[in-house]
Amino acid sequence: MNARHNNKPVPVVVDTDPGVDDAVAILMLLSDPSFDVLGFTTTAGNVPLARSTRNSLALLEHIGRSDIPVCRGAARPIRGRYAYARQVHSASGLTRRMKEPDIGASNTKAIPFLATTLNAHPGEVTLIALGPLTNLARLWRSNPDALRAAGRIVVMGGAVNARGNASPHAEFNFYSDPTAAKVIFDSGLPLTLIDLAACQRVAISRAQAETVRSGSKMGTLAAELLEGWFARDSSRQQFYLYDPLAVLAATHPQVVGLDGMTMRVVDSDDTDDSAMWGKCEVVDANQGPIQVAAPDRVDSDAAWAAIKELLDWE
Ligand code: RIB
Ligand code: CA
Repeated sequence: MNARHNNKPVPVVVDTDPGVDDAVAILMLLSDPSFDVLGFTTTAGNVPLARSTRNSLALLEHIGRSDIPVCRGAARPIRGRYAYARQVHSASGLTRRMKEPDIGASNTKAIPFLATTLNAHPGEVTLIALGPLTNLARLWRSNPDALRAAGRIVVMGGAVNARGNASPHAEFNFYSDPTAAKVIFDSGLPLTLIDLAACQRVAISRAQAETVRSGSKMGTLAAELLEGWFARDSSRQQFYLYDPLAVLAATHPQVVGLDGMTMRVVDSDDTDDSAMWGKCEVVDANQGPIQVAAPDRVDSDAAWAAIKELLDWE
């Protein structure tokens, strides 16, 4: 099921910290003609800002989409410093050598780009956040009406009633900037949350990554990035498709089942125990503005089929 309204592509902005799974998610989204990607805003997270921006530009140039602007965002979280995840995504952030992009980032920074774009298309833009929520939180603090103007907000992040992947309690994006995640949850903004527990229902194995072939340039690049990820460590047996599932929540909403909840996020105002920072606390499991993907209602087969369809994988 695609998301066209009145047969027009749905406008989308992606906030991202590429990162291998971000890259696969971006390639999936750009393969779907039902969506019109108006721009990317970058944040540090998996890698420093200069790297996530360079990787975004390199990906777009490689697939001939240098027409899409890339706007630099957060180099630092609201408090503290980013943890980075070079050990997962490699020092460069992408597990395939990419030509140094000829194109540069936009002169417009992330926050003004988001404000201008969301206000120009009130109620229409799907904002997909694939990294720490620093840019969204800064936009909320400086221009809340702009963020309210988003048609839909989809977030990959958090670990709801589940063990974290950055600490025992916190998922990496929320751990990287817990105060930003707290600001967004406390805002009361309606959003779709694709958390760690849901994402762990959708993975690609080493064997699948080594055998998958694609008839498209975007699908081939996605396959090469995944093959490169497995090649970095012979003990790696599966790759969780975190950010790709967040994109599917927008392009193929039927692959996830959502439950409305009220939640808050723990940060340094709540405790000095840094292992708790970024933890999701459920305030009301039965109602609220945060639509959480229920792990037992992720249709893994449909998700895998949608990923193969978008990337033209055989
Ligand atoms: O915890 C998974 C998330 O952290 C993904 O967005 C991945 O790219 C990293 O940013
Ligand atoms: Ca990411």
